[in-house]
Amino acid sequence: MRIGVLTGGGDCPGLNAAIRAIVRRGVERHGHTLFGFRDGWRGVLENVHEELTIESTRGILPRGGTILGTSRTNPFKRDDGPERVRRTLAELELDGVVAIGGEDTLGAAERLWREHGVPVVGVPKTIDNDLSATDLTFGFDTAVSVATEAIDRLHTTAESHNRVMVVEVMGRHAGWIALHSGLAGGADVILIPERPFDIDEVCDLVRRRHARGRYFSIVVVAEGAQPREGTLVVREQGTDEFGHVRLGGISQILEREIEQRTGYETRSVVLGHTQRGGSPTAFDRVLATRFGIAAADAVAARRWGTMAALRGTAIELVPLADAVREPKLVPDDLYELAATFFG
Ligand code: F6P
Repeated sequence: MRIGVLTGGGDCPGLNAAIRAIVRRGVERHGHTLFGFRDGWRGVLENVHEELTIESTRGILPRGGTILGTSRTNPFKRDDGPERVRRTLAELELDGVVAIGGEDTLGAAERLWREHGVPVVGVPKTIDNDLSATDLTFGFDTAVSVATEAIDRLHTTAESHNRVMVVEVMGRHAGWIALHSGLAGGADVILIPERPFDIDEVCDLVRRRHARGRYFSIVVVAEGAQPREGTLVVREQGTDEFGHVRLGGISQILEREIEQRTGYETRSVVLGHTQRGGSPTAFDRVLATRFGIAAADAVAARRWGTMAALRGTAIELVPLADAVREPKLVPDDLYELAATFFG
């Protein structure tokens, strides 16, 4: 079989491990010939590709980013998109495509399969861990490790200066990184998009710590966290060229409000893309490798329209439609568990 591979959306640690596994398993077990498209769906639309071989994918397992490049190009944003995808597949005589991505990339893959019969298999990646139908996506564990290390470091300086530190982590619609890094790092308050916050309650938690003789606090906030309606004014934010709201800035608002309301010295830190860069953790390398192998096997079995998923400890194939129907959000009981340690 002749198979295309692409990586789309925001990059994340583990993409190269997945590519390597798809190639290794595909070539050795199934006799596949593989082509890597440049920059996600853009490379498919414009037929920009390179052959992927065992030799060309050697040594990439521990490397962050993606050797194929990535973009947020969505084939459905242009009228002739699906037709161009089909044309590229025909030109290269491809039997199918493995799309490695998050909700946008796999959302496009699902529609291409369902509406246009383009044969696709999905591999779930995103540091946000917000894809449904899989317990975890690769990239998440690395992002949580980076954020936890940062929180540990901020702890010691917060304690030395008796300061409140507001740490902003990624997560537009889902607070998985904030929740896990906050729990692992011993945060005193965690704010996530799923639970609009009340600034007065946040300040009360920080004051309670002071009353107990702890003169510093760590507040971990997901970039998409929002105040409860009517409790605090946040400024309007623009959108990027793909229509995504540009986030970032909530930590500065919290810094100002907490300091003004409590009188405690406060600093904010935005971890930003450091969470997405660099080498994947061992866990993410293994997960990405297992997903890659499952995807190569799914292709060989022509299980189009499916995605490799982690269910418990097993890798299974699930319908792509189940993965992209709605985002996977932090459940209330997990947030309540974390709240045990607030204040
Ligand atoms: O989806 C992954 C992610 O890192 C989000 O957590 C974040 O909101 C977004 O991508 C940032 O996108 P960009 O790299 O385009 O600024």
